Amino acid sequence: MPVYHGSVLGDAVLQYLNFTEEGIIVDSTLGDGGHTELLLKNSGPGFTMLGIDRDAEALERAKKRLAPYKGRVRFAHGNYSELKNILAGFGISKIDGLLLDLGVSSPQIDTPERGFSFMKTGPLDMRMDPTEELTAADLLKTLSDRDLEFLFRKYGEERHARRIVRAIRRAQAEGPIATTTDLSAIVARAVPTSRAARIHPATRVFQALRIAVNRELDHLKTVLADSLDVLQEGARVAVISFHSLEDRIVKNFFRDEEKGCVCPPRLPVCVCGRKPRLKVLTRRVVVPMAGEIAANHRSSSAKLRVAERIYA
Ligand SMILES: C[S@@+](CC[C@H](N)C(=O)[O-])C[C@H]1O[C@@H](n2cnc3c(N)ncnc32)[C@H](O)[C@@H]1O
Repeated sequence: MPVYHGSVLGDAVLQYLNFTEEGIIVDSTLGDGGHTELLLKNSGPGFTMLGIDRDAEALERAKKRLAPYKGRVRFAHGNYSELKNILAGFGISKIDGLLLDLGVSSPQIDTPERGFSFMKTGPLDMRMDPTEELTAADLLKTLSDRDLEFLFRKYGEERHARRIVRAIRRAQAEGPIATTTDLSAIVARAVPTSRAARIHPATRVFQALRIAVNRELDHLKTVLADSLDVLQEGARVAVISFHSLEDRIVKNFFRDEEKGCVCPPRLPVCVCGRKPRLKVLTRRVVVPMAGEIAANHRSSSAKLRVAERIYA
């Protein structure tokens, strides 16, 4: 039996997304297909799904796992920032739900050759879709000191960005940084150790490189904006995020789309004419219970937000 990625917040995803007997839900981060399987298992024959992933290996694993649901699930290799084109390719114009379970999957992290893990030696790759060109090694080689420091600060919220860049440059003067564990050792030596630190010193740098290599935040903004055109009335968008940069984008997007009008407060009447397009269903962000965190440590930072499309 293959060991699959442990799907996060499964009960809440079920509660918010299998609200309709008929229709199509898009799992735009199919991964190992865990959420898709859960939804298919708990719904009737009129409930179908489309699974998208930019990682062809993930799609192959999910196809095998979801074979018992043949006829109720379709698959697409692609980036969710291309959601509208992908749907058009299937002749679909409107959907009943969209799931985004952001970030990397356990098979991606646990496979050293993919280069996501600072604990296992592998090439500095980090591409979710290995057919794309840019790798983490390319970024370390080509970015200026300033840009690399900015990247660590912005996407890793790393306070010691400047020190880390200096340490990377010193190491590069001796020869290229070839592996994940070489980089994590350089970072660990560069930052002051704090006994209170809960995370490995290289966590933030690896997060920053991964976000940049895969342009994760840009794609998230695109899919959220595009979802408004494809969700039909009453359809839901559910997003599970794993760090504050992602969660902030989702929270702000939902809040802005719930508000509608974007006129400056000094104007006595609305001139922009924008109407609310979403109703937020998760007034309080949904987080895993202690039992889920104990069983699956990777769920500990998960946050789920869900909104419903309204046509005012
Ligand atoms: C956390 S895993 C999903 C796990 C899945 N929900 C499950 O239960 O098995 C995230 C997946 O999303 C994919 N992914 C990340 N960004 C993507 C993007 N922009 N477009 C398509 N897939 C993406 C990754 O390749 C990875 O397989």
